[in-house]
Amino acid sequence: MLLHGNFSIPFRSPLRPPISITLHHPRKLSFAAAAAAQQGFAISDQELESRGFIFRRTIEDLNLDQLNSVFVAVGFPKRDTDKIKVALEHTDSLLWVEYEKTKRPVAFARATGDGVFNAIIWDVVVDPTFQGIGLGKAVIERVVEELLQKGITNIALYSEPRVLGFYRPLGFVSDPEGIRGMVYSRKNKKK
Ligand SMILES: CC(C)(COP(=O)(O)OP(=O)(O)OC[C@H]1O[C@@H](n2cnc3c(N)ncnc32)[C@H](O)[C@@H]1OP(=O)(O)O)[C@@H](O)C(=O)NCCC(=O)NCCS
Repeated sequence: MLLHGNFSIPFRSPLRPPISITLHHPRKLSFAAAAAAQQGFAISDQELESRGFIFRRTIEDLNLDQLNSVFVAVGFPKRDTDKIKVALEHTDSLLWVEYEKTKRPVAFARATGDGVFNAIIWDVVVDPTFQGIGLGKAVIERVVEELLQKGITNIALYSEPRVLGFYRPLGFVSDPEGIRGMVYSRKNKKK
């Protein structure tokens, strides 16, 4: 899936629609909601932090075995932790959420790319115990925003059919302008 409209139009983040936080009706918006809206995110860093979720952007404190366990818990194939380390070292944007109580990673996403034009988002996961409370959306919003801030507007990802509905409201579309994703398959290669 591609982030809608970002490969041919001038930069304008779909995650930053013109939001007016009206001063005439201050009680309509809680402080946390206002902070999130100002950042352009559905939920602010402060709100998540107050619930014990902390954003991390480096791999220094990230326990890769624990991350691998989250991958396995959501059904991804178990991968060699040393290879995950190499993959993360070659990753441009990375975001994970630490649950303060356990110090464990509970949400994760990363993006690789050329640093200028293109990026692909990989390994989007939320620990099943913590799904459905906004962490997945929070992570994707922030990874996309970071890429857009770098001027990277061609943002793609592979989506399993069951999560298309998760990505669509975040600005991703399937087959934009008829463009189809293709993946090299060794199975189909003529011998
Ligand atoms: C997909 C995944 C990352 C979503 O994370 P999450 O934290 O559970 O999702 P959130 O709580 O942030 O949900 C955000 C919104 O997306 C919706 N949503 C979540 N999963 C959805 C799905 N599979 N289909 C449609 N909508 C979905 C939520 O209802 C919510 O809607 P709202 O904003 O209107 O309230 C998580 O379920 C997961 O890790 N799944 C297993 C791994 C996986 O499939 N990763 C994607 C690989 S392509």
